[in-house]
Amino acid sequence: METELSRQLGIEHAIFGFTPFPEVAAAITRAGGFGVLGAVRYTDPDDLERDLDLLHRHADGKPYGLDVVMPAKKVEGVTEADVEAMIPEGHRGFVRDLLARHGVPELAEGETSGWRITGWMEEVARGQLDVAFDYPVKLLANALGSPPADVIARAHDHGVLVAALAGSARHARHHAEAGIDVVVAQGYEAGGHTGEIGTMVLVPEVVEAVAPLPVLAAGGIGSGEQAAAGLALGAQGVWLGSLWLTTEEADLHSEALTAKLLAAGSGDTVRSRALTGKPARQLRTEWTDAWDDPAGPGALPMPLQGLLVAEAVSRIQTYEVGALLGTPVGQIVGRMTGRRSVRAVVDDLTRGFERAVTRMNRIAGRSDT
Ligand SMILES: Cc1cc2nc3c(=O)[nH]c(=O)nc-3n(C[C@H](O)[C@H](O)[C@H](O)COP(=O)(O)O)c2cc1C
Repeated sequence: METELSRQLGIEHAIFGFTPFPEVAAAITRAGGFGVLGAVRYTDPDDLERDLDLLHRHADGKPYGLDVVMPAKKVEGVTEADVEAMIPEGHRGFVRDLLARHGVPELAEGETSGWRITGWMEEVARGQLDVAFDYPVKLLANALGSPPADVIARAHDHGVLVAALAGSARHARHHAEAGIDVVVAQGYEAGGHTGEIGTMVLVPEVVEAVAPLPVLAAGGIGSGEQAAAGLALGAQGVWLGSLWLTTEEADLHSEALTAKLLAAGSGDTVRSRALTGKPARQLRTEWTDAWDDPAGPGALPMPLQGLLVAEAVSRIQTYEVGALLGTPVGQIVGRMTGRRSVRAVVDDLTRGFERAVTRMNRIAGRSDT
């Protein structure tokens, strides 16, 4: 699976893997793909440095990237405490009642919520970049919009390509105008924050909108045949997030959650604002049902919802409360039926890609096999 972009980055397969786990990112890179470490959960730059160090040491000298969540517009002088103060008491009560109904214990003394998504705050994301530029990161991706102009310029000064996720051709055009190098066209099926347009419709629209910029197809890709479809639609590679969650190298810190993912079908996810306040695809649980229930108070806008639920999510995960236990994941969860190594996943993707190419060649009457 070679394309102009994969050759430019010096990778064997045009398979890009987003993951919050440095071990998984390193394994994707070692297997010939391009591992991208998600930085949003690192509030302390020292933790990011430790994990980038691990990724770097285990990447066998091959290229890898970093994904940050940096808003394009700067919100001046707003602290986490200011945002906390904006959360209505009624919503706090709703969380308390929901947890009490399910008998979710308090965290132990001294145990803090490990799930604070504050990487969206510009000062946190900038701290992450200060660390990242000390490493030979080859691609910097941004989740929510185009990164600020000075960040794009700084990346380019370091010879780092800048990518941004887009859920519509309009977003993609905006990224192109901002001067980014690669657009990740991420469809409705995808895990995490996602738009309303399916991958099959989105990818060719984005390819056309930003040509000649390279586009990666994302959302609902879990086989080599699906990867081939993405490339057939004009993408220069595929970008996968969900499929790695059940690999042997991924540590979700919960056997119960892994078991839930392995058992889930493609219809068991929902696009809900329950986790962050923006629509994000995740496992459907009694937690998402409660937030999506029109009789309830409904989710708060980002970033309030993320701060409101951070401790609750930690408690649910720590005590593995089955009915509420979830994670962002895409519809491809239906194909994630067994634990495999990252290498086995990449090998399966490349074999499936070859099968698809052979089949298409046969259909086109070009095969002599
Ligand atoms: C658990 C999880 C967390 C994610 N977090 C982020 C994130 O922090 N930043 C980002 O750019 N994309 C994030 N995504 C989206 C992925 O980058 C990717 O676009 C998506 O997973 C592709 O679709 P797929 O889930 O069908 O493979 C996340 C996806 C998952 C499954």
